[in-house]
Amino acid sequence: MSCHVPARYATDGLPRARGVFGRDNPRNSPTVFNAAYQTAEHWRADRDSVEDQARRALLGKPSFGNATDEEALARLRALPAPYPEEFRRAFPGDAEPVSIRNWGTAIGAYERTLLTPGPFDAFLNGDGKALGAGARAGLTAFMDEGCVQCHDGPLLGGNALRKFGVDAEYAPLTHSNPVDEGRFEITKDEADRYVFKVAPLRNVARTAPYFHDGSVATLPEAVAIMAQTQLGKQLSAERVAAIVAFLESLTGPVPATFSPL
Ligand code: HEC
Repeated sequence: MSCHVPARYATDGLPRARGVFGRDNPRNSPTVFNAAYQTAEHWRADRDSVEDQARRALLGKPSFGNATDEEALARLRALPAPYPEEFRRAFPGDAEPVSIRNWGTAIGAYERTLLTPGPFDAFLNGDGKALGAGARAGLTAFMDEGCVQCHDGPLLGGNALRKFGVDAEYAPLTHSNPVDEGRFEITKDEADRYVFKVAPLRNVARTAPYFHDGSVATLPEAVAIMAQTQLGKQLSAERVAAIVAFLESLTGPVPATFSPL
């Protein structure tokens, strides 16, 4: 529970994730809350689903996990009670219930329960008082300024890939060093340079620091940078504060099923 800390809304609060062997990872730890309902996982959308993410997280030495599937499987098979029995109960009729595939399915099934509806959902469901005047003004600004062009759907993001830096390069504003080239590193396609997954915004007020490399410490700064890089706009401090008030309405309670060990 050092990577997905409940009090930090299932993130680690660090700019970049620290792997199980203490090595820094190149990118910021995403939260597991609501993560299952994205169209793909991770900043570069290189995991198809939370199930795929969980399976592949077993590998990845030297930062994470094991060197080979065989090594990972040996460790799963060595898990003490109650795991062997629980796997048998969860996957009845499966000759080998303890498998990498079933491990991913089980972790994914759990992650699919980690939802955090907040005041914005109550508002959408018809409770006009669920958002204060500030948050309502922020919602209007979020729509009028064009944030919704990318941050849409139930998670306000997590369903598309876009360039970080449409109107202005991101690195001079975020002071990122090194500069991550995003999906380009995976596809080597020039059109993918600096392309990242549109970040989902649920609980964003609680998951600092921001962006794929955790390069920006506060939400107002992150909002102002988004307006510059994605929309070519300089927002006033008041406008930024309004949007932040709206984003705070996307914070819901930590799920009761998510507790420290
Ligand atoms: C053209 C698409 C696009 C538009 C328009 C856009 N965003 Fe983003 N947003 C992104 C992408 C892509 C990322 C991920 C950037 C990264 O870290 O690599 C992101 C990330 C963010 C983050 C950081 C989330 C985190 O967990 O680190 C916030 C906050 C954010 N956007 C808010 C906004 C706001 C507010 C607006 C309107 C002013 C906006 N965005 C407009 C595409 C967009």
